[in-house]
Amino acid sequence: MTKRIAVLTSGGDAPGMNPCIRAIVYEAEEKGVEIYAVKRGFLGLLDNDFSPMQVKDTSGIIQRGGTILRSARCEEFKYEEAQKEGIKNLINNNCDGLIVIGGDGSLRGASAISDRGVNVIGIPASIDNDIYGTDMSLGVDTALNNIVEVIDKIKDTASSHERTFIIEVMGRGSGYLALISAITTGAEAAIIPEVEYDLEKIAGRILERYKRHKTANIIVVAEGASTGYQISRKLSKIANIISKITVLGHLQRGGSPSSFDRLLGSRLGSAAVNRLLQGESSVMVGIVKGKLKTTSFDDVLGKKKDFDENLIKLAKTLGK
Ligand code: F6P
Repeated sequence: MTKRIAVLTSGGDAPGMNPCIRAIVYEAEEKGVEIYAVKRGFLGLLDNDFSPMQVKDTSGIIQRGGTILRSARCEEFKYEEAQKEGIKNLINNNCDGLIVIGGDGSLRGASAISDRGVNVIGIPASIDNDIYGTDMSLGVDTALNNIVEVIDKIKDTASSHERTFIIEVMGRGSGYLALISAITTGAEAAIIPEVEYDLEKIAGRILERYKRHKTANIIVVAEGASTGYQISRKLSKIANIISKITVLGHLQRGGSPSSFDRLLGSRLGSAAVNRLLQGESSVMVGIVKGKLKTTSFDDVLGKKKDFDENLIKLAKTLGK
């Protein structure tokens, strides 16, 4: 019988982590289970940074971005010695379950611990939306809203001056943020790592648009495909197109979680506690076609999330 569950947030923070932590604490309290918060992700697990957390400690966090548990990228945890140390600390704190909220690397750490016999449930949180086993990860929706808000503003000034703007967005290995923000802001092109791009074609389209006196040209680039500066330089070389560059950086990851991310975090947090109590382990709980679904860590870490080809077609049609 699970009596005490440890919870940590790891990797890049994502808006929605706080509503998720809150739901975990509420659900656990309802079921008579204790929650121990581990600060700074796997680093805190190694440093034995555990403290009890109750519903009263979650007051006012549902609307806050980032993570009150703080986060870290912990290279050390890839190694056996560190994993054993983390498990020792879990045992010494009488925690018989662990919930890890984070992205790909964090779920890899979660899986390594569960391979050593600890009951572990993962929750997907990464603005990149590149995690297999869930349609949406925590933070994606808020990050998209942040990006759209900025591009809308840039379009105002771009169209006043008939200029071309290159917007570089996050997404180390994934073009999801770039593609969806391009579609939803009416951008002219999205450059993403999943699809080969032809800059000469894009340049031709921009020149054509200038001829038709179309006022603003927006190109969204995923950082995993190229940089805003590179694309700008190439456009200038290929077709003498002068462009302005905006690198959105970490503002994409900040801010109050959207209603979608609050609901997603609440559903996943509550489900993670219940799955642990039902004896499930070595799985991530995600959302597929609107329904909660668990996927084994082996699949989450071994399979690649499909990119929806229809979205790519749509972006091409709407970017003409
Ligand atoms: O994984 C999420 C993410 O925001 C990526 O899109 C980005 O490349 C990376 O994190 C940035 O990481 P950090 O904040 O550690 O520099």
